Amino acid sequence: MPGHWLLASLGKRVLRPGGLELTTRLLDKLGVGQRDDVLELAPGLGVTARLTLGRQPRSYMAVERDERAAGKLTEFLHGTPGRCVHGNAECTGLASEAYSVAYGEAMLTMQTTQVKMRILSEVRRLLRRGGRYGIHELCIVPDDAGGEIREEIQRALSLNIHVGVQPLVAAEWRKLLECAGFRVAWEGRAPMRLLEPRRVVRDEGFIGAIRFAFNLLRRADARRRVFGMRRLFREYRQHLEAVAFVCEKE
Ligand SMILES: C[S@@+](CC[C@H](N)C(=O)[O-])C[C@H]1O[C@@H](n2cnc3c(N)ncnc32)[C@H](O)[C@@H]1O
Repeated sequence: MPGHWLLASLGKRVLRPGGLELTTRLLDKLGVGQRDDVLELAPGLGVTARLTLGRQPRSYMAVERDERAAGKLTEFLHGTPGRCVHGNAECTGLASEAYSVAYGEAMLTMQTTQVKMRILSEVRRLLRRGGRYGIHELCIVPDDAGGEIREEIQRALSLNIHVGVQPLVAAEWRKLLECAGFRVAWEGRAPMRLLEPRRVVRDEGFIGAIRFAFNLLRRADARRRVFGMRRLFREYRQHLEAVAFVCEKE
């Protein structure tokens, strides 16, 4: 099972590297408001969807590749101006230039360079001119980190999380966005502390963190894997950060 779904099965809902704090900064910088038609790619368990809906956009659409997650979010969105479709961010089938804001978190990192580019070009097609796009992803630091350490991290994370993970350095994320026709307006960083107890409490709340800890205690196999992931994140602490960008379709 991929690491993010293992964490979800243990009750963890926030699955992005910079936690809710970086998400909130991202939404603030995107300036989501009542006149916006918002598109979220890969909403996962719908944590950011709830924050976005709290800002009362005119409409909200999500595209999620996992059928169960898409179904759960669809249930939650019942009775709201929001919709979620089960689909692929590379090729959503949605109407061109229908959105003023788009964003996705912790989803580009797990794609190859070609797929990253295809998703960015799909987002560009879906956004209106001047539309804002936000990402929140894993990045490698420093910017001049050598190829050897990058390959080592990529290999170790992919093996451990059971998903191909291809984080970039911040300058490469920026370049990718610019190559896809976006103008970068803001960059934010946060430490990568996804599985550190303090962050878990901040992201999941006290009760949520207790539930997560209790589930870890009950499930020895899952506990071994989660502790293995945390060990890896700690081992590469000096080289892993969360990065967010807000950019504009030119
Ligand atoms: C690490 S989880 C992050 C979920 C959520 N964005 C969060 O930050 O908590 C990655 C999510 O990306 C979704 N995903 C991956 N590739 C996708 C694609 N090509 N199209 C749509 N969703 C995708 C997965 O199904 C999963 O929900």
